[in-house]
Amino acid sequence: MEVKRIPVILDGDPGHDDAIAWMLAQASPLLDIRAVTSACGNQTIEKTTYNALRICTLLGITAPVAKGRPAPLLEKPMNAPSVHGQSGLDGPVLPEPAMDLSELPAVELMARVLRESSEPVTLVVTGPQTNAAALLLAHPELKEKIARISIMGGGISHGNWTPAAEFNILADPEAADIVFRSGIPVIMSGLDVTEQALIFPKDFERIRAVGNRVARIVADWLEFFYEFHRNIGYAGAPLHDPVAVVSLIRPDLLQTKPMCVEIETRGEYCRGATVGHDRKRANALVNLGIDRDGFADLLVEAVKTYGEDER
Ligand code: RIB
Ligand code: CA
Repeated sequence: MEVKRIPVILDGDPGHDDAIAWMLAQASPLLDIRAVTSACGNQTIEKTTYNALRICTLLGITAPVAKGRPAPLLEKPMNAPSVHGQSGLDGPVLPEPAMDLSELPAVELMARVLRESSEPVTLVVTGPQTNAAALLLAHPELKEKIARISIMGGGISHGNWTPAAEFNILADPEAADIVFRSGIPVIMSGLDVTEQALIFPKDFERIRAVGNRVARIVADWLEFFYEFHRNIGYAGAPLHDPVAVVSLIRPDLLQTKPMCVEIETRGEYCRGATVGHDRKRANALVNLGIDRDGFADLLVEAVKTYGEDER
């Protein structure tokens, strides 16, 4: 029986965990990647765009790739070289891009994909939500063509970049506010669940043992990504972004709760906080737990789908 695939646009700031999220998406028979767009976040837009092209080359993603906005809606760019390195994707050598960048900027490529799709498209946003918000501002007429927005971002119980705020939301709180107020169903994978999505060194070796090129590079990405987290006391690599893909392809691995999530855009100490409650109508499905072992197994099975040749 033909599986009905979910049309998706992957928008992120690669970033090691963005790259692994895209690996998972490309490996899944349930998803149809219609476009890839880069966001300013972990590194500058130039670097995340270059990384996006290299990742798509490595994974054999043939969808068009477009460059996102160079800065958040209001703030100056905020990067994270301490986590992802100067390139934004330090570690293993990657192939040079085999494709040219789209001639359209990200927002216009997203709009074209939505216009041309016969059915609503899901946005998978694993960086600051700048492009998604800009799309909603520039093309309100296309809102109905967005089925839902699955994000990695926020944290109901805590932050990581500040005590109150997680990096993706803090980098562009105004954008997140636009997305969460849009009325489009949001699936939120915040730190509550992504810090349970720990991949341990034993898992790195299971992935490496698969033995193909993508498996080796994913294991190298995990090693690099884990280094920062090991030094601040994590027992494994908290694999944030792939959970936004797991939400679409294996929701059975997740424990989820409908919530009203509101974004703090003011405040000296709490700017970028995602405040979750049940005092208003729910605007998001919030992931709060994950079957970690099942998640690790899913990653191992995903890398097995990549042969020695670039796909
Ligand atoms: O806070 C984690 C998030 O910030 C992840 O998306 C990671 O890639 C960085 O963008
Ligand atoms: Ca990211």
